[in-house]
Amino acid sequence: MAVTTFSFLAFFTTLLLSSPVISTVHFNYPAIFNFGDSNSDTGCVIAAGIGGLLDPPYGQTYFHEPSGRFSDGRLIIDFLSHAMDKRFLNAYLESVGVPNFRRGANFAAAGSTILPPTQYAFCPFSFGNQVAQFFSFKARVLQLLGGKLDKFVPREDYFRKGLYTFDIGQNDLAGAFYSKTEDQVIASIPTILQEFENGTKKLYDQGARNFWIHNTGPLGCLPQNLFVFGKEKSDKHGCLRPHNHAARVFNLQLLALCRKLQHEFADARITYVDIFSIKFDLISNFSRYGFEHPTTACCGYGGPPLNYDSRISCGQTKVLNGTTVTAKGCDDFTKYVSWDGIHYTEAANHHVWSQIPTGKYSYPLFSEKI
Ligand SMILES: *[C@@H]1O[C@H](CO)[C@@H](O)[C@H](O)[C@H]1NC(C)=O
Ligand SMILES: *[C@@H]1O[C@H](CO)[C@@H](O)[C@H](O)[C@H]1NC(C)=O
Ligand SMILES: *[C@@H]1O[C@H](CO)[C@@H](O)[C@H](O)[C@H]1NC(C)=O
Repeated sequence: MAVTTFSFLAFFTTLLLSSPVISTVHFNYPAIFNFGDSNSDTGCVIAAGIGGLLDPPYGQTYFHEPSGRFSDGRLIIDFLSHAMDKRFLNAYLESVGVPNFRRGANFAAAGSTILPPTQYAFCPFSFGNQVAQFFSFKARVLQLLGGKLDKFVPREDYFRKGLYTFDIGQNDLAGAFYSKTEDQVIASIPTILQEFENGTKKLYDQGARNFWIHNTGPLGCLPQNLFVFGKEKSDKHGCLRPHNHAARVFNLQLLALCRKLQHEFADARITYVDIFSIKFDLISNFSRYGFEHPTTACCGYGGPPLNYDSRISCGQTKVLNGTTVTAKGCDDFTKYVSWDGIHYTEAANHHVWSQIPTGKYSYPLFSEKI
Protein backbone atom coordinates (compact mmCIF):
# COMPACT_ATOMS: atom_id res chain seq x y z
CA MET A 1 0.00 0.00 0.00
CA ALA A 2 2.84 2.37 0.79
CA VAL A 3 4.13 1.95 -2.73
CA THR A 4 0.74 2.84 -4.12
CA THR A 5 0.52 5.95 -2.01
CA PHE A 6 3.97 7.02 -3.00
CA SER A 7 3.37 6.55 -6.72
CA PHE A 8 0.06 8.31 -6.50
CA LEU A 9 1.57 11.31 -4.78
CA ALA A 10 4.71 11.37 -6.88
CA PHE A 11 2.67 11.14 -9.97
CA PHE A 12 0.42 14.04 -9.16
CA THR A 13 3.32 16.15 -7.97
CA THR A 14 4.98 15.53 -11.31
CA LEU A 15 1.77 16.36 -13.04
CA LEU A 16 1.36 19.66 -11.27
CA LEU A 17 4.93 20.65 -12.09
CA SER A 18 4.75 19.61 -15.72
CA SER A 19 2.08 20.22 -18.30
CA PRO A 20 -1.08 18.30 -17.50
CA VAL A 21 -0.94 15.56 -20.12
CA ILE A 22 -4.01 13.76 -18.93
CA SER A 23 -3.50 10.60 -20.93
CA THR A 24 -0.44 9.77 -18.84
CA VAL A 25 -2.29 9.87 -15.50
CA HIS A 26 -1.52 6.63 -13.78
CA PHE A 27 -3.93 5.59 -11.12
CA ASN A 28 -1.93 2.85 -9.52
CA TYR A 29 -4.72 0.35 -8.92
CA PRO A 30 -4.97 -3.11 -10.45
CA ALA A 31 -8.76 -2.97 -10.97
CA ILE A 32 -11.83 -0.74 -10.83
CA PHE A 33 -15.24 -1.72 -9.52
CA ASN A 34 -17.75 0.95 -10.43
CA PHE A 35 -21.25 1.64 -9.10
CA GLY A 36 -23.51 4.32 -10.51
CA ASP A 37 -26.15 5.59 -12.90
CA SER A 38 -26.05 6.73 -16.54
CA ASN A 39 -23.13 9.03 -15.77
CA SER A 40 -20.98 5.90 -15.72
CA ASP A 41 -23.07 3.12 -17.34
CA THR A 42 -20.89 1.55 -20.06
CA GLY A 43 -23.54 -0.84 -21.35
CA CYS A 44 -25.55 -2.35 -18.49
CA VAL A 45 -29.00 -1.07 -19.33
CA ILE A 46 -28.60 -1.80 -23.02
CA ALA A 47 -27.36 -5.34 -22.25
CA ALA A 48 -30.29 -5.78 -19.86
CA GLY A 49 -32.66 -4.68 -22.61
CA ILE A 50 -34.70 -2.44 -20.34
CA GLY A 51 -34.23 0.83 -22.14
CA GLY A 52 -34.65 -0.32 -25.72
CA LEU A 53 -31.72 0.56 -27.93
CA LEU A 54 -29.79 3.76 -28.31
CA ASP A 55 -29.90 5.13 -31.85
CA PRO A 56 -27.20 7.07 -33.66
CA PRO A 57 -25.80 9.67 -33.17
CA TYR A 58 -25.21 8.16 -29.70
CA GLY A 59 -21.60 6.96 -29.70
CA GLN A 60 -20.68 8.79 -32.86
CA THR A 61 -17.69 10.75 -31.57
CA TYR A 62 -15.45 8.01 -30.34
CA PHE A 63 -17.00 4.59 -30.92
CA HIS A 64 -18.64 5.59 -34.24
CA GLU A 65 -21.76 3.65 -33.23
CA PRO A 66 -23.98 3.49 -30.14
CA SER A 67 -21.79 1.96 -27.43
CA GLY A 68 -24.26 1.46 -24.60
CA ARG A 69 -23.19 4.80 -23.18
CA PHE A 70 -25.53 7.77 -22.84
CA SER A 71 -23.25 10.18 -24.66
CA ASP A 72 -21.76 10.83 -28.07
CA GLY A 73 -18.50 9.34 -26.78
CA ARG A 74 -16.59 8.52 -23.65
CA LEU A 75 -17.64 9.03 -20.04
CA ILE A 76 -15.55 10.13 -17.06
CA ILE A 77 -15.16 6.48 -16.00
CA ASP A 78 -13.79 5.69 -19.48
CA PHE A 79 -11.09 8.33 -19.14
CA LEU A 80 -10.29 7.01 -15.68
CA SER A 81 -10.09 3.34 -16.71
CA HIS A 82 -8.25 4.23 -19.89
CA ALA A 83 -5.67 6.23 -17.93
CA MET A 84 -5.22 3.23 -15.69
CA ASP A 85 -4.68 0.46 -18.19
CA LYS A 86 -5.83 1.59 -21.64
CA ARG A 87 -8.90 -0.59 -21.50
CA PHE A 88 -12.58 0.12 -21.08
CA LEU A 89 -14.49 -1.33 -18.19
CA ASN A 90 -17.00 -3.97 -19.25
CA ALA A 91 -20.53 -3.82 -17.90
CA TYR A 92 -21.16 -6.74 -15.53
CA LEU A 93 -24.24 -7.76 -17.53
CA GLU A 94 -22.41 -7.72 -20.87
CA SER A 95 -22.40 -11.30 -22.13
CA VAL A 96 -21.87 -11.08 -25.87
CA GLY A 97 -18.31 -11.06 -27.21
CA VAL A 98 -15.52 -11.68 -24.76
CA PRO A 99 -16.02 -9.36 -21.84
CA ASN A 100 -12.78 -9.11 -19.94
CA PHE A 101 -13.14 -8.46 -16.22
CA ARG A 102 -9.45 -8.82 -15.40
CA ARG A 103 -9.14 -5.16 -14.46
CA GLY A 104 -12.57 -4.85 -12.88
CA ALA A 105 -16.24 -4.60 -13.70
CA ASN A 106 -18.88 -1.94 -14.04
CA PHE A 107 -22.18 -2.35 -12.18
CA ALA A 108 -23.54 1.13 -13.04
CA ALA A 109 -26.99 1.21 -14.63
CA ALA A 110 -28.66 4.15 -16.33
CA GLY A 111 -31.70 5.38 -14.44
CA SER A 112 -30.64 3.79 -11.18
CA THR A 113 -31.13 5.33 -7.78
CA ILE A 114 -29.48 4.81 -4.41
CA LEU A 115 -32.85 3.99 -2.85
CA PRO A 116 -34.62 0.78 -3.90
CA PRO A 117 -36.51 1.25 -7.17
CA THR A 118 -40.12 2.39 -6.98
CA GLN A 119 -42.79 0.65 -9.03
CA TYR A 120 -42.47 3.39 -11.65
CA ALA A 121 -38.71 3.12 -11.95
CA PHE A 122 -37.27 2.49 -15.34
CA CYS A 123 -34.19 0.76 -13.90
CA PRO A 124 -34.39 -2.09 -11.38
CA PHE A 125 -30.68 -2.02 -10.52
CA SER A 126 -30.49 0.39 -7.61
CA PHE A 127 -27.33 0.78 -5.53
CA GLY A 128 -28.22 -2.11 -3.22
CA ASN A 129 -28.76 -4.39 -6.24
CA GLN A 130 -25.47 -3.29 -7.75
CA VAL A 131 -23.68 -4.14 -4.51
CA ALA A 132 -25.44 -7.53 -4.49
CA GLN A 133 -24.36 -8.09 -8.11
CA PHE A 134 -20.80 -7.27 -7.07
CA PHE A 135 -20.95 -9.95 -4.38
CA SER A 136 -22.22 -12.54 -6.90
CA PHE A 137 -19.43 -11.48 -9.24
CA LYS A 138 -16.79 -11.78 -6.54
CA ALA A 139 -18.02 -15.17 -5.31
CA ARG A 140 -18.02 -16.54 -8.85
CA VAL A 141 -14.55 -15.14 -9.58
CA LEU A 142 -13.15 -16.74 -6.43
CA GLN A 143 -14.58 -20.10 -7.60
CA LEU A 144 -13.11 -19.72 -11.08
CA LEU A 145 -9.62 -18.61 -10.06
CA GLY A 146 -6.93 -21.18 -10.74
CA GLY A 147 -8.66 -22.36 -13.89
CA LYS A 148 -8.47 -21.51 -17.55
CA LEU A 149 -10.44 -18.28 -17.24
CA ASP A 150 -7.81 -16.62 -15.06
CA LYS A 151 -6.87 -14.03 -17.62
CA PHE A 152 -10.47 -12.80 -17.80
CA VAL A 153 -11.11 -12.33 -14.09
CA PRO A 154 -9.48 -10.26 -11.34
CA ARG A 155 -6.85 -11.85 -9.09
CA GLU A 156 -8.02 -12.37 -5.54
CA ASP A 157 -5.89 -9.53 -4.16
CA TYR A 158 -7.38 -7.10 -6.70
CA PHE A 159 -10.55 -7.00 -4.60
CA ARG A 160 -8.59 -5.41 -1.78
CA LYS A 161 -6.20 -3.34 -3.88
CA GLY A 162 -8.73 -2.19 -6.46
CA LEU A 163 -10.40 1.20 -6.67
CA TYR A 164 -14.13 1.25 -5.83
CA THR A 165 -15.71 4.16 -7.67
CA PHE A 166 -19.19 5.65 -7.13
CA ASP A 167 -21.30 8.15 -9.03
CA ILE A 168 -24.91 7.80 -7.96
CA GLY A 169 -27.68 9.89 -6.40
CA GLN A 170 -28.63 12.18 -9.25
CA ASN A 171 -31.76 10.17 -10.08
CA ASP A 172 -32.90 10.03 -6.45
CA LEU A 173 -32.99 13.83 -6.38
CA ALA A 174 -34.11 14.55 -9.95
CA GLY A 175 -36.86 11.92 -9.72
CA ALA A 176 -38.11 13.20 -6.36
CA PHE A 177 -38.80 16.67 -7.77
CA TYR A 178 -41.60 15.22 -9.90
CA SER A 179 -43.69 14.44 -6.82
CA LYS A 180 -42.18 16.41 -3.94
CA THR A 181 -41.57 20.00 -2.94
CA GLU A 182 -38.02 21.28 -2.58
CA ASP A 183 -38.27 21.00 1.22
CA GLN A 184 -39.49 17.42 0.98
CA VAL A 185 -36.69 16.51 -1.42
CA ILE A 186 -34.15 17.97 0.99
CA ALA A 187 -35.76 16.18 3.93
CA SER A 188 -35.34 12.85 2.11
CA ILE A 189 -31.56 13.19 1.68
CA PRO A 190 -30.50 11.56 4.99
CA THR A 191 -32.51 8.42 4.10
CA ILE A 192 -30.89 8.27 0.68
CA LEU A 193 -27.43 8.60 2.21
CA GLN A 194 -28.20 6.02 4.88
CA GLU A 195 -28.76 3.52 2.09
CA PHE A 196 -25.52 4.61 0.45
CA GLU A 197 -23.65 4.22 3.74
CA ASN A 198 -25.04 0.71 4.19
CA GLY A 199 -23.78 -0.34 0.75
CA THR A 200 -20.31 1.10 1.26
CA LYS A 201 -20.07 -0.62 4.65
CA LYS A 202 -20.91 -3.97 3.08
CA LEU A 203 -18.16 -3.42 0.54
CA TYR A 204 -15.70 -2.45 3.26
CA ASP A 205 -16.62 -5.51 5.34
CA GLN A 206 -15.83 -7.65 2.30
CA GLY A 207 -12.40 -6.09 1.81
CA ALA A 208 -12.81 -2.89 -0.23
CA ARG A 209 -10.27 -0.30 0.91
CA ASN A 210 -9.98 2.37 -1.81
CA PHE A 211 -13.15 4.41 -2.26
CA TRP A 212 -13.46 7.10 -4.92
CA ILE A 213 -16.79 8.91 -4.51
CA HIS A 214 -18.12 11.46 -7.01
CA ASN A 215 -20.66 13.91 -5.68
CA THR A 216 -23.72 14.80 -7.74
CA GLY A 217 -23.74 17.41 -10.50
CA PRO A 218 -25.79 20.60 -10.96
CA LEU A 219 -29.12 18.97 -11.87
CA GLY A 220 -30.73 22.35 -12.25
CA CYS A 221 -28.64 23.07 -15.35
CA LEU A 222 -29.85 20.04 -17.31
CA PRO A 223 -32.11 20.96 -20.26
CA GLN A 224 -34.52 18.15 -19.26
CA ASN A 225 -35.16 19.70 -15.84
CA LEU A 226 -35.32 23.20 -17.34
CA PHE A 227 -37.90 21.92 -19.84
CA VAL A 228 -40.08 20.24 -17.23
CA PHE A 229 -39.78 22.74 -14.39
CA GLY A 230 -39.62 25.92 -16.41
CA LYS A 231 -37.14 28.72 -16.32
CA GLU A 232 -38.94 30.93 -13.84
CA LYS A 233 -36.93 29.55 -10.94
CA SER A 234 -33.62 29.95 -12.71
CA ASP A 235 -30.53 31.76 -11.51
CA LYS A 236 -28.15 34.04 -13.42
CA HIS A 237 -26.53 31.04 -15.10
CA GLY A 238 -29.90 29.86 -16.43
CA CYS A 239 -30.04 26.93 -14.00
CA LEU A 240 -32.91 25.93 -11.68
CA ARG A 241 -32.20 27.17 -8.18
CA PRO A 242 -34.23 24.50 -6.25
CA HIS A 243 -32.57 21.59 -8.07
CA ASN A 244 -29.08 22.94 -7.60
CA HIS A 245 -29.78 23.75 -3.98
CA ALA A 246 -30.90 20.15 -3.34
CA ALA A 247 -27.77 18.89 -5.11
CA ARG A 248 -25.60 21.10 -2.90
CA VAL A 249 -27.29 19.92 0.29
CA PHE A 250 -26.88 16.32 -0.85
CA ASN A 251 -23.20 16.95 -1.55
CA LEU A 252 -22.54 18.57 1.83
CA GLN A 253 -24.10 15.60 3.58
CA LEU A 254 -22.20 13.19 1.33
CA LEU A 255 -18.94 14.93 2.23
CA ALA A 256 -19.80 14.62 5.94
CA LEU A 257 -20.53 10.93 5.38
CA CYS A 258 -17.19 10.46 3.61
CA ARG A 259 -15.41 12.01 6.59
CA LYS A 260 -17.32 9.77 8.97
CA LEU A 261 -16.49 6.69 6.91
CA GLN A 262 -12.82 7.68 6.79
CA HIS A 263 -12.86 7.91 10.57
CA GLU A 264 -14.56 4.52 10.96
CA PHE A 265 -12.49 2.75 8.30
CA ALA A 266 -9.06 3.78 9.50
CA ASP A 267 -7.25 1.47 7.06
CA ALA A 268 -9.27 2.65 4.05
CA ARG A 269 -8.76 5.63 1.81
CA ILE A 270 -11.93 7.58 1.01
CA THR A 271 -11.68 10.24 -1.69
CA TYR A 272 -14.61 12.58 -2.31
CA VAL A 273 -14.53 14.24 -5.73
CA ASP A 274 -16.44 17.49 -6.22
CA ILE A 275 -17.87 16.90 -9.69
CA PHE A 276 -20.55 19.53 -8.98
CA SER A 277 -18.03 22.36 -8.85
CA ILE A 278 -16.24 21.24 -11.99
CA LYS A 279 -19.50 20.99 -13.95
CA PHE A 280 -20.95 24.22 -12.56
CA ASP A 281 -17.77 26.10 -13.39
CA LEU A 282 -17.90 24.63 -16.90
CA ILE A 283 -21.52 25.73 -17.35
CA SER A 284 -20.98 29.20 -15.84
CA ASN A 285 -17.67 29.92 -17.53
CA PHE A 286 -18.29 27.87 -20.68
CA SER A 287 -16.63 30.20 -23.19
CA ARG A 288 -13.36 30.14 -21.30
CA TYR A 289 -13.25 26.38 -21.86
CA GLY A 290 -14.06 26.58 -25.56
CA PHE A 291 -17.79 25.79 -25.36
CA GLU A 292 -20.61 27.84 -26.88
CA HIS A 293 -23.78 26.24 -25.47
CA PRO A 294 -23.99 25.52 -21.72
CA THR A 295 -27.67 24.56 -21.38
CA THR A 296 -28.81 23.65 -24.89
CA ALA A 297 -28.92 19.97 -25.81
CA CYS A 298 -26.76 19.07 -28.80
CA CYS A 299 -28.98 16.16 -29.78
CA GLY A 300 -32.67 16.88 -29.36
CA TYR A 301 -35.75 18.52 -30.77
CA GLY A 302 -37.32 21.93 -30.35
CA GLY A 303 -34.48 24.31 -31.12
CA PRO A 304 -32.90 26.86 -28.78
CA PRO A 305 -32.78 27.71 -25.97
CA LEU A 306 -33.06 24.10 -24.74
CA ASN A 307 -33.43 22.00 -27.90
CA TYR A 308 -35.11 19.44 -25.66
CA ASP A 309 -38.59 17.96 -25.81
CA SER A 310 -39.52 15.15 -23.43
CA ARG A 311 -41.72 13.49 -26.06
CA ILE A 312 -38.84 12.60 -28.34
CA SER A 313 -35.33 11.60 -27.38
CA CYS A 314 -32.04 11.94 -29.19
CA GLY A 315 -31.86 9.90 -32.37
CA GLN A 316 -35.59 9.12 -32.52
CA THR A 317 -38.03 9.89 -35.29
CA LYS A 318 -41.68 10.37 -34.30
CA VAL A 319 -44.90 11.89 -35.47
CA LEU A 320 -45.70 14.99 -33.42
CA ASN A 321 -48.83 16.97 -34.27
CA GLY A 322 -49.14 15.06 -37.52
CA THR A 323 -45.62 15.92 -38.64
CA THR A 324 -42.72 13.46 -38.72
CA VAL A 325 -39.78 14.92 -36.83
CA THR A 326 -36.34 13.65 -35.83
CA ALA A 327 -34.24 14.59 -32.79
CA LYS A 328 -30.93 15.14 -34.53
CA GLY A 329 -27.40 15.87 -33.40
CA CYS A 330 -25.93 19.37 -33.64
CA ASP A 331 -23.25 20.39 -36.11
CA ASP A 332 -20.33 20.54 -33.71
CA PHE A 333 -20.60 18.27 -30.67
CA THR A 334 -17.54 19.85 -29.06
CA LYS A 335 -19.30 23.20 -28.56
CA TYR A 336 -22.06 21.77 -26.35
CA VAL A 337 -21.92 20.82 -22.69
CA SER A 338 -25.17 18.82 -22.83
CA TRP A 339 -25.44 15.88 -25.18
CA ASP A 340 -29.10 14.85 -25.07
CA GLY A 341 -30.53 17.17 -22.42
CA ILE A 342 -29.75 14.77 -19.56
CA HIS A 343 -26.20 13.58 -20.19
CA TYR A 344 -22.97 15.34 -21.03
CA THR A 345 -21.05 15.34 -24.29
CA GLU A 346 -17.71 13.60 -24.53
CA ALA A 347 -16.12 17.06 -24.76
CA ALA A 348 -17.70 18.03 -21.41
CA ASN A 349 -16.81 14.67 -19.81
CA HIS A 350 -13.25 15.13 -20.96
CA HIS A 351 -13.15 18.59 -19.43
CA VAL A 352 -14.43 17.22 -16.10
CA TRP A 353 -11.87 14.44 -16.18
CA SER A 354 -9.07 16.89 -16.99
CA GLN A 355 -9.79 18.83 -13.80
CA ILE A 356 -9.55 15.82 -11.49
CA PRO A 357 -5.75 15.41 -11.50
CA THR A 358 -5.29 19.05 -10.47
CA GLY A 359 -6.35 17.79 -7.03
CA LYS A 360 -8.30 21.00 -6.42
CA TYR A 361 -11.60 19.19 -6.40
CA SER A 362 -10.83 16.18 -4.26
CA TYR A 363 -11.01 15.75 -0.49
CA PRO A 364 -8.72 15.00 1.04
CA LEU A 365 -6.37 16.70 -1.41
CA PHE A 366 -4.05 14.36 -3.23
CA SER A 367 -1.08 15.95 -1.48
CA GLU A 368 -2.57 15.09 1.92
CA LYS A 369 -2.83 11.42 1.10
CA ILE A 370 0.16 10.07 2.95
C1 LIG B 1 -28.88 0.26 7.16
O1 LIG B 1 -28.30 -0.63 8.08
C2 LIG B 1 -28.86 -0.49 9.38
C3 LIG B 1 -28.04 -1.33 10.33
O2 LIG B 1 -27.60 -2.50 9.73
C4 LIG B 1 -30.32 -0.93 9.31
O3 LIG B 1 -30.92 -0.82 10.59
C5 LIG B 1 -31.06 -0.01 8.34
O4 LIG B 1 -32.38 -0.44 8.15
C6 LIG B 1 -30.37 0.02 7.00
N1 LIG B 1 -30.94 1.10 6.25
C7 LIG B 1 -31.26 1.02 4.99
C8 LIG B 1 -31.83 2.27 4.39
O5 LIG B 1 -31.12 -0.01 4.35
C1 LIG C 1 -16.06 31.23 -13.09
O1 LIG C 1 -14.76 31.73 -13.15
C2 LIG C 1 -14.47 32.72 -12.15
C3 LIG C 1 -13.08 33.27 -12.44
O2 LIG C 1 -12.14 32.24 -12.39
C4 LIG C 1 -14.55 32.08 -10.79
O3 LIG C 1 -14.31 33.05 -9.79
C5 LIG C 1 -15.93 31.50 -10.61
O4 LIG C 1 -16.00 30.83 -9.36
C6 LIG C 1 -16.27 30.55 -11.73
N1 LIG C 1 -17.65 30.11 -11.59
C7 LIG C 1 -17.96 28.97 -11.01
C8 LIG C 1 -19.40 28.69 -10.87
O5 LIG C 1 -17.14 28.15 -10.63
C1 LIG D 1 -48.22 20.94 -31.45
O1 LIG D 1 -49.35 21.75 -31.34
C2 LIG D 1 -49.43 22.47 -30.13
C3 LIG D 1 -50.77 23.18 -30.09
O2 LIG D 1 -51.03 23.80 -31.33
C4 LIG D 1 -48.26 23.42 -30.03
O3 LIG D 1 -48.31 24.13 -28.82
C5 LIG D 1 -47.01 22.62 -30.09
O4 LIG D 1 -45.87 23.49 -30.09
C6 LIG D 1 -46.97 21.77 -31.34
N1 LIG D 1 -45.84 20.89 -31.25
C7 LIG D 1 -45.03 20.65 -32.26
C8 LIG D 1 -43.96 19.66 -32.02
O5 LIG D 1 -45.12 21.20 -33.33
